[in-house]
Amino acid sequence: MILGIESSCDETAAAVVADGVEVRSNVVASQLDIHGRWGGVVPELASREHLRAIVPVVRDALAQAGVGGRSLSAIAVTEGPGLVGSLLVGITYAKALSLAWGVPLLGVNHIEGHIHAVVMEHREQLQFPALALVVSGGHTHMFAVTEGFVYRLLGRTRDDAAGEAFDKVAKLLGFGYPGGPVIDRLAPYGNPKAVRFTTPNMKGNTLDFSFSGIKTAVLRWTQARTMEEEIAARRALLRETPHPTVEQWRAVTPQATLDLLASFQRAVVKDLLGRATEAARAMGAKSLIVSGGVACNSGLRAAAGAFYLPAFFPRGELSTDNAVMIAAAGFPKLARQEFADFSLRAKANLRLV
Ligand code: KG4
Ligand code: ZN
Repeated sequence: MILGIESSCDETAAAVVADGVEVRSNVVASQLDIHGRWGGVVPELASREHLRAIVPVVRDALAQAGVGGRSLSAIAVTEGPGLVGSLLVGITYAKALSLAWGVPLLGVNHIEGHIHAVVMEHREQLQFPALALVVSGGHTHMFAVTEGFVYRLLGRTRDDAAGEAFDKVAKLLGFGYPGGPVIDRLAPYGNPKAVRFTTPNMKGNTLDFSFSGIKTAVLRWTQARTMEEEIAARRALLRETPHPTVEQWRAVTPQATLDLLASFQRAVVKDLLGRATEAARAMGAKSLIVSGGVACNSGLRAAAGAFYLPAFFPRGELSTDNAVMIAAAGFPKLARQEFADFSLRAKANLRLV
């Protein structure tokens, strides 16, 4: 029985998972509404919100699971990568609980957590070696994963993460933050072939990604048009209703902009799966794991259905940041007795390999 704690970015989360697979509780306090007003995550505000939320969130997770702290097998906490001030809140609280309850501590890499969100649910069907594509607001990485969870980095973004590209494009067009979910919901109303984007040619490792070019292409597209009015209308809508419906968005979004969104999403999905195909062939993968916030994207899920290998995604609420995946990733570490001690630190740039 592992208590997972996650506070690397803008969600304070705690969960109890039994035997590495059975979810006993999953509590997430999101700060989206706080950061949404600023068009992105504000680190200082995030730390303060984690401080406010961490105690009730952990208490809730234990209460819903019906377990007392002292009967836990371990406490697994995200040690990085992420915002240092945010990570520190989860790590410090986890250390305090570990000391008070006499329960061992496990340090978990957030990216490994995202991979385990899929592993925990599909352990039986997953064939190894697997290719893991981790796509979120902070990361775009491809790893070769063995059955014993040894990782090899195959490629990563050289600039923006895929989710970051969704967020920046949405912000530029007045759709608020986070951008992925809005673009995903509006893309079906546009023509995905209306605007052509070129896939970047990567020098050196061709399995690396780059999303800054497509972001600039979108910027140029907007500069070639007069868009002030429609952008102002969307910003006004956001001030009135923090969570507009698709119909409300469509009322302030001309067809040309819907076409742009559809084309942008198609281009990102094509790039992700194109390089994933190349990587999977090169390593001789037997299955594909897709995880991280962008794994929610319906265009990506639909396109992955046609991937040449079986593709596995986490269920919806385990795609974005949560503590279930941290507890699940802690399970093999518990089995190997890879405990952390009180010198565990927050590591902003922690790498998986
Ligand atoms: O994994 P996550 O919750 O946090 C990080 O570790 O970054 O991912 C958040 C990211 C944001 O960039 C958000 O725009 C993106 O995931 N995202 C999506 C969708 N839902 C969330 N991107 C595309 N389509 C979606 N449906
Ligand atoms: Zn994440």
